[in-house]
Amino acid sequence: MLAMPRSKIAGIGMYVPSNIVTNNDLLKYMETSDEWIQERTGIKERRYAHRTEETTTTMGVEAAKIAIERAGITPPDIDFIIFATLCPDYYFPGCGVLLQRAMKMKEIGALDVRNQCSGFVYALSVGDQFIKSGMYKNILVVGAEKHSFGLDFTTRGRNISVIFGDGAGAVVLQPTEENNRGILSTHLHSDGDSAEILAMYNPGTHANHWMPEKYADFDEAEIGQMFFSHKMIDKEQIFPNMDGQAVFKKAVIKFPEVILEALSANGLQTTDIKVLIPHQANLRISQFVQHKLKLTDDQVYNNIQKFGNTTAASIPIALCEAWEMGKIKEGDLVCLAAFGSGFTWASALLRW
Ligand code: ACO
Repeated sequence: MLAMPRSKIAGIGMYVPSNIVTNNDLLKYMETSDEWIQERTGIKERRYAHRTEETTTTMGVEAAKIAIERAGITPPDIDFIIFATLCPDYYFPGCGVLLQRAMKMKEIGALDVRNQCSGFVYALSVGDQFIKSGMYKNILVVGAEKHSFGLDFTTRGRNISVIFGDGAGAVVLQPTEENNRGILSTHLHSDGDSAEILAMYNPGTHANHWMPEKYADFDEAEIGQMFFSHKMIDKEQIFPNMDGQAVFKKAVIKFPEVILEALSANGLQTTDIKVLIPHQANLRISQFVQHKLKLTDDQVYNNIQKFGNTTAASIPIALCEAWEMGKIKEGDLVCLAAFGSGFTWASALLRW
């Protein structure tokens, strides 16, 4: 039997908009404070995309250009695109095809992944299977978000809007025959019972089917106005919703669980981890996970202080920064772990 190749990250890149938005900058929109935001989330500042010149896709393109160049290939060499985001340029089609067009790639497959905070790890896992099966040789995996366009910038939405930032990260996956290198395993989970705890309900086709509470006026709305109605806008029903404490409670259980699952699947211990890159949800969550797993400060990389929570982009951005800073070297064991809306959670263990 032929040995299955492993996937390795052959190139990595990141892009964040130049516009820095501090906690104090948010005071002009809502009642909040630098102190509250830093104490609860660890965030000092985040980046917001240029209103018209930058989109989720264009930021993904910028990150992809760097990843592709670092992999020593060119855009026409890419044979599959996987794009993870929760804020796509269009409701449909997805960002994958927009990136394919923008980067003048061949008529290759383009897949969008909608798994929010764990989107990048899910996307990486999908890419890993295609590489292992031998179907593709150069897969571009992108995580990108332009949150600043869709948040509630009033005091009502402050528990969510202060957390999120814009940016993108990308990797190129290639097969490797090298022993003990590349992605060792990935682990994916979901619990749809909590779908509404962190969600953006409208616009959508749910018609209040899943919730006792009514989230829009579907019964009275004219046909043709059900998807997006004036009432939805008037009643501010078009923004994301989050029960922050419920997210926190589940996250601090599922993060350690999925990290230990990855280690156990490979016969490894927490002390073997060189760097853990947790999804940058909230610094308090990362610190809780670090404490629970008894990891040292050197073993966990966080950059939410500078970029906020960039959802599907947070892991590739943090991984790219950690690598650029020399914190990850060849042969190091790297663990990626994510938890978020869905709920979905996931981990990946890789030997750099
Ligand atoms: N500025 C000032 N006050 C605020 C803000 C704000 N930005 N947001 C909420 N408050 C107020 C609330 O109105 C409330 O006031 P009240 O007591 O007068 O009613 C008070 O602060 C406490 O509100 P809580 O929601 O209970 O605050 P909590 O301590 O839970 O902190 C937070 C909120 C930071 C969201 C926390 O629940 C949390 O970290 N949850 C995890 C959620 C998370 O990380 N989400 C990221 C996205 S999902 C992901 O990536 C996994």
